[in-house]
Amino acid sequence: MAAQIIDGKALAARVRAELKARIAVLAERGQRPGLAVVLVGDDPASAIYVRNKIAACEEVGIRSWCDRLGAGTSQETLLARIAQLNADVAVHGILVQLPLPKPLDAQRVLESISFAKDVDGLHATNAGLTLMGRPHFRSCTPYGVMKMLETTGVPPRGAHAVVLGRSNMVGKPMAMLLLAADATVTICHSGTRDLPSITRQADILVAAVGRRNLVTADMVKPGAVVIDVGTNKTPEGKLAGDVDFAAVREVAGWISLVPGGVGPMTIAMLLTNTVEAAERAAGLTH
Ligand code: GUN
Repeated sequence: MAAQIIDGKALAARVRAELKARIAVLAERGQRPGLAVVLVGDDPASAIYVRNKIAACEEVGIRSWCDRLGAGTSQETLLARIAQLNADVAVHGILVQLPLPKPLDAQRVLESISFAKDVDGLHATNAGLTLMGRPHFRSCTPYGVMKMLETTGVPPRGAHAVVLGRSNMVGKPMAMLLLAADATVTICHSGTRDLPSITRQADILVAAVGRRNLVTADMVKPGAVVIDVGTNKTPEGKLAGDVDFAAVREVAGWISLVPGGVGPMTIAMLLTNTVEAAERAAGLTH
Protein backbone atom coordinates (compact mmCIF):
# COMPACT_ATOMS: atom_id res chain seq x y z
CA MET A 1 0.00 0.00 0.00
CA ALA A 2 1.30 3.46 -0.87
CA ALA A 3 2.46 5.64 2.01
CA GLN A 4 0.22 8.25 3.55
CA ILE A 5 1.20 11.80 2.68
CA ILE A 6 2.35 14.21 5.37
CA ASP A 7 0.82 17.41 4.07
CA GLY A 8 3.09 20.23 5.24
CA LYS A 9 1.08 22.86 3.42
CA ALA A 10 -2.16 21.96 5.20
CA LEU A 11 -0.40 21.64 8.57
CA ALA A 12 1.26 25.04 8.09
CA ALA A 13 -2.17 26.57 7.43
CA ARG A 14 -3.42 25.09 10.73
CA VAL A 15 -0.37 26.47 12.59
CA ARG A 16 -0.99 29.92 11.10
CA ALA A 17 -4.66 29.80 12.12
CA GLU A 18 -3.62 29.05 15.73
CA LEU A 19 -1.12 31.91 15.63
CA LYS A 20 -3.82 34.35 14.57
CA ALA A 21 -5.65 33.62 17.84
CA ARG A 22 -2.47 34.26 19.86
CA ILE A 23 -1.82 37.46 17.90
CA ALA A 24 -5.37 38.60 18.75
CA VAL A 25 -4.60 38.13 22.47
CA LEU A 26 -1.48 40.28 22.06
CA ALA A 27 -3.51 42.90 20.18
CA GLU A 28 -5.89 43.17 23.15
CA ARG A 29 -2.83 44.28 25.13
CA GLY A 30 -1.82 46.75 22.45
CA GLN A 31 1.06 44.55 21.27
CA ARG A 32 1.90 43.34 17.77
CA PRO A 33 4.66 40.85 16.99
CA GLY A 34 7.36 42.24 14.70
CA LEU A 35 9.91 40.43 12.51
CA ALA A 36 12.85 42.15 10.81
CA VAL A 37 14.32 40.29 7.85
CA VAL A 38 17.71 41.25 6.46
CA LEU A 39 18.60 40.19 2.93
CA VAL A 40 22.11 40.90 1.67
CA GLY A 41 22.98 40.57 -2.01
CA ASP A 42 20.94 39.36 -4.95
CA ASP A 43 20.71 35.58 -4.68
CA PRO A 44 17.42 34.85 -6.51
CA ALA A 45 16.48 31.85 -4.31
CA SER A 46 17.02 33.92 -1.15
CA ALA A 47 14.86 36.71 -2.57
CA ILE A 48 12.01 34.21 -3.09
CA TYR A 49 12.38 32.75 0.43
CA VAL A 50 12.34 36.24 1.94
CA ARG A 51 9.29 37.24 -0.08
CA ASN A 52 7.45 34.14 1.15
CA LYS A 53 8.41 34.91 4.77
CA ILE A 54 7.21 38.51 4.51
CA ALA A 55 3.94 37.41 2.85
CA ALA A 56 3.36 34.87 5.63
CA CYS A 57 3.89 37.58 8.28
CA GLU A 58 1.34 39.75 6.52
CA GLU A 59 -1.19 36.95 6.38
CA VAL A 60 -1.17 36.25 10.13
CA GLY A 61 -0.79 39.87 11.29
CA ILE A 62 2.90 40.02 12.19
CA ARG A 63 4.47 43.40 11.41
CA SER A 64 7.51 42.92 9.20
CA TRP A 65 10.41 44.93 7.90
CA CYS A 66 12.71 43.87 5.11
CA ASP A 67 16.16 45.41 4.72
CA ARG A 68 17.64 44.76 1.30
CA LEU A 69 21.34 45.48 1.41
CA GLY A 70 23.71 45.42 -1.55
CA ALA A 71 26.08 42.51 -2.17
CA GLY A 72 29.01 44.81 -1.32
CA THR A 73 27.71 45.60 2.19
CA SER A 74 30.54 45.53 4.73
CA GLN A 75 30.54 43.41 7.86
CA GLU A 76 30.59 46.64 9.92
CA THR A 77 27.51 48.06 8.19
CA LEU A 78 25.62 44.81 8.64
CA LEU A 79 26.60 44.51 12.32
CA ALA A 80 25.57 48.14 12.91
CA ARG A 81 22.15 47.46 11.36
CA ILE A 82 21.69 44.38 13.53
CA ALA A 83 22.65 46.41 16.62
CA GLN A 84 19.86 48.88 15.75
CA LEU A 85 17.36 46.05 15.36
CA ASN A 86 18.52 44.48 18.65
CA ALA A 87 17.72 47.78 20.39
CA ASP A 88 14.32 48.33 18.73
CA VAL A 89 11.52 47.22 21.09
CA ALA A 90 9.04 46.90 18.20
CA VAL A 91 11.26 44.18 16.70
CA HIS A 92 10.75 40.83 18.45
CA GLY A 93 12.53 38.67 15.91
CA ILE A 94 15.49 39.17 13.57
CA LEU A 95 16.35 36.93 10.65
CA VAL A 96 19.40 37.33 8.45
CA GLN A 97 18.79 35.31 5.30
CA LEU A 98 21.59 32.87 4.48
CA PRO A 99 23.81 32.36 2.58
CA LEU A 100 25.56 35.72 2.93
CA PRO A 101 27.78 36.93 0.07
CA LYS A 102 31.53 36.61 0.51
CA PRO A 103 33.50 37.80 2.44
CA LEU A 104 30.82 38.30 5.13
CA ASP A 105 31.26 36.03 8.14
CA ALA A 106 27.85 34.40 8.62
CA GLN A 107 28.61 32.92 12.04
CA ARG A 108 29.77 36.26 13.43
CA VAL A 109 26.71 37.95 11.98
CA LEU A 110 24.35 35.36 13.49
CA GLU A 111 26.10 35.71 16.83
CA SER A 112 25.57 39.49 16.79
CA ILE A 113 21.79 38.99 16.89
CA SER A 114 20.43 39.10 20.43
CA PHE A 115 19.72 35.45 21.27
CA ALA A 116 16.34 36.59 22.63
CA LYS A 117 15.43 37.82 19.11
CA ASP A 118 17.03 34.92 17.21
CA VAL A 119 13.77 33.45 15.92
CA ASP A 120 15.75 31.41 13.38
CA GLY A 121 17.31 29.50 16.28
CA LEU A 122 20.79 29.68 14.75
CA HIS A 123 22.63 31.68 17.44
CA ALA A 124 25.22 29.59 19.31
CA THR A 125 23.31 30.16 22.57
CA ASN A 126 20.10 28.82 21.08
CA ALA A 127 21.93 25.90 19.48
CA GLY A 128 23.52 25.18 22.87
CA LEU A 129 20.23 25.39 24.77
CA THR A 130 18.68 22.99 22.25
CA LEU A 131 21.64 20.65 22.77
CA MET A 132 21.02 20.77 26.52
CA GLY A 133 17.36 19.83 26.06
CA ARG A 134 15.95 23.20 27.13
CA PRO A 135 15.46 25.13 23.89
CA HIS A 136 14.62 28.83 23.91
CA PHE A 137 14.05 29.05 20.13
CA ARG A 138 14.16 25.84 18.12
CA SER A 139 15.70 26.03 14.66
CA CYS A 140 12.71 26.46 12.32
CA THR A 141 13.15 23.56 9.89
CA PRO A 142 13.75 20.83 12.51
CA TYR A 143 10.94 22.31 14.63
CA GLY A 144 8.63 22.01 11.62
CA VAL A 145 9.73 18.42 11.01
CA MET A 146 8.87 17.53 14.63
CA LYS A 147 5.37 18.99 14.12
CA MET A 148 4.99 16.95 10.91
CA LEU A 149 6.07 13.84 12.79
CA GLU A 150 3.40 14.49 15.43
CA THR A 151 0.68 14.32 12.78
CA THR A 152 1.67 10.76 11.85
CA GLY A 153 0.97 9.45 15.34
CA VAL A 154 4.29 7.53 15.20
CA PRO A 155 5.92 8.14 18.59
CA PRO A 156 9.62 9.10 18.45
CA ARG A 157 10.18 7.48 21.85
CA GLY A 158 12.24 4.34 21.33
CA ALA A 159 12.18 4.73 17.54
CA HIS A 160 15.40 4.63 15.56
CA ALA A 161 15.61 8.02 13.85
CA VAL A 162 18.23 8.44 11.13
CA VAL A 163 19.15 11.96 10.06
CA LEU A 164 20.96 12.40 6.76
CA GLY A 165 23.05 15.58 6.90
CA ARG A 166 24.94 17.36 9.67
CA SER A 167 24.44 21.07 8.95
CA ASN A 168 24.11 23.56 11.79
CA MET A 169 20.78 24.70 10.36
CA VAL A 170 19.09 21.32 9.96
CA GLY A 171 20.98 18.08 10.60
CA LYS A 172 22.46 18.79 14.03
CA PRO A 173 19.44 20.54 15.62
CA MET A 174 17.17 17.90 14.05
CA ALA A 175 19.12 15.16 15.79
CA MET A 176 18.90 17.06 19.11
CA LEU A 177 15.12 17.51 18.91
CA LEU A 178 14.64 13.82 18.08
CA LEU A 179 16.94 12.90 20.96
CA ALA A 180 14.97 15.15 23.32
CA ALA A 181 11.86 13.24 22.17
CA ASP A 182 13.56 9.98 23.26
CA ALA A 183 14.38 8.62 19.81
CA THR A 184 17.59 6.66 19.28
CA VAL A 185 19.38 8.91 16.81
CA THR A 186 21.98 8.24 14.14
CA ILE A 187 23.46 11.09 12.10
CA CYS A 188 24.82 10.14 8.69
CA HIS A 189 26.99 12.32 6.45
CA SER A 190 29.27 12.24 3.43
CA GLY A 191 31.81 10.10 5.30
CA THR A 192 29.29 7.45 6.38
CA ARG A 193 30.08 3.92 5.19
CA ASP A 194 27.33 1.73 3.77
CA LEU A 195 24.56 4.30 4.12
CA PRO A 196 21.73 1.93 3.00
CA SER A 197 22.50 -0.53 5.82
CA ILE A 198 21.85 2.30 8.30
CA THR A 199 18.86 3.93 6.62
CA ARG A 200 17.16 0.52 6.38
CA GLN A 201 17.08 0.45 10.20
CA ALA A 202 15.26 3.78 10.39
CA ASP A 203 11.74 3.98 11.76
CA ILE A 204 12.02 7.72 11.09
CA LEU A 205 14.21 8.93 8.24
CA VAL A 206 14.93 12.65 7.76
CA ALA A 207 16.82 13.54 4.58
CA ALA A 208 18.61 16.90 4.67
CA VAL A 209 21.60 16.53 2.38
CA GLY A 210 20.76 18.49 -0.76
CA ARG A 211 21.20 15.66 -3.28
CA ARG A 212 18.32 14.74 -5.53
CA ASN A 213 17.13 11.11 -5.35
CA LEU A 214 19.71 10.24 -2.69
CA VAL A 215 17.13 8.13 -0.86
CA THR A 216 15.94 5.24 -3.01
CA ALA A 217 13.30 2.61 -2.21
CA ASP A 218 15.86 -0.07 -1.28
CA MET A 219 17.17 2.22 1.48
CA VAL A 220 13.86 2.48 3.31
CA LYS A 221 12.38 0.15 5.92
CA PRO A 222 8.79 -0.84 5.05
CA GLY A 223 6.35 1.38 6.95
CA ALA A 224 8.94 4.01 7.93
CA VAL A 225 8.21 7.72 8.24
CA VAL A 226 10.24 9.58 5.59
CA ILE A 227 10.58 13.35 5.80
CA ASP A 228 12.29 15.12 2.92
CA VAL A 229 14.07 18.39 3.73
CA GLY A 230 15.88 18.55 0.38
CA THR A 231 15.44 21.58 -1.88
CA ASN A 232 17.14 20.70 -5.15
CA LYS A 233 16.52 21.99 -8.63
CA THR A 234 15.67 19.58 -11.47
CA PRO A 235 17.18 20.25 -14.92
CA GLU A 236 13.75 21.71 -15.80
CA GLY A 237 14.11 24.19 -12.95
CA LYS A 238 11.53 22.53 -10.67
CA LEU A 239 11.98 21.99 -6.95
CA ALA A 240 12.78 18.40 -5.91
CA GLY A 241 13.75 16.79 -2.61
CA ASP A 242 16.41 14.27 -1.59
CA VAL A 243 13.97 11.34 -1.78
CA ASP A 244 12.95 9.39 -4.88
CA PHE A 245 9.32 10.09 -4.04
CA ALA A 246 7.54 7.82 -6.55
CA ALA A 247 9.52 4.72 -5.57
CA VAL A 248 9.87 5.38 -1.81
CA ARG A 249 6.15 6.06 -1.55
CA GLU A 250 5.55 2.36 -2.31
CA VAL A 251 7.67 1.27 0.68
CA ALA A 252 7.28 3.93 3.39
CA GLY A 253 4.34 4.26 5.78
CA TRP A 254 4.38 8.06 5.67
CA ILE A 255 6.15 10.44 3.33
CA SER A 256 6.33 14.22 2.92
CA LEU A 257 6.07 16.14 -0.34
CA VAL A 258 8.50 18.55 -1.99
CA PRO A 259 7.26 21.18 -2.59
CA GLY A 260 4.44 21.44 -0.07
CA GLY A 261 6.16 19.65 2.80
CA VAL A 262 8.90 21.00 5.03
CA GLY A 263 9.14 24.40 3.23
CA PRO A 264 5.79 25.80 4.39
CA MET A 265 6.39 24.35 7.86
CA THR A 266 9.76 26.13 8.17
CA ILE A 267 7.98 29.44 7.60
CA ALA A 268 5.13 28.52 9.96
CA MET A 269 7.64 27.79 12.74
CA LEU A 270 9.46 31.09 12.08
CA LEU A 271 6.12 32.82 12.65
CA THR A 272 5.57 30.69 15.77
CA ASN A 273 8.95 31.69 17.20
CA THR A 274 8.23 35.36 16.44
CA VAL A 275 4.86 35.24 18.21
CA GLU A 276 6.52 33.49 21.15
CA ALA A 277 9.15 36.23 21.31
CA ALA A 278 6.41 38.87 21.38
CA GLU A 279 4.51 36.96 24.08
CA ARG A 280 7.65 36.81 26.21
CA ALA A 281 8.18 40.56 25.73
CA ALA A 282 4.56 41.13 26.80
CA GLY A 283 4.98 38.95 29.89
CA LEU A 284 2.76 36.18 28.49
CA THR A 285 4.29 32.72 28.56
CA HIS A 286 3.10 29.30 27.52
N1 GUN B 1 18.40 30.09 4.02
C1 GUN B 1 17.74 28.96 3.70
N2 GUN B 1 16.93 28.59 4.73
C2 GUN B 1 17.12 29.50 5.71
C3 GUN B 1 16.58 29.65 7.02
O1 GUN B 1 15.75 28.86 7.50
N3 GUN B 1 17.03 30.72 7.72
C4 GUN B 1 17.93 31.60 7.22
N4 GUN B 1 18.30 32.62 7.98
N5 GUN B 1 18.45 31.48 6.01
C5 GUN B 1 18.05 30.44 5.26
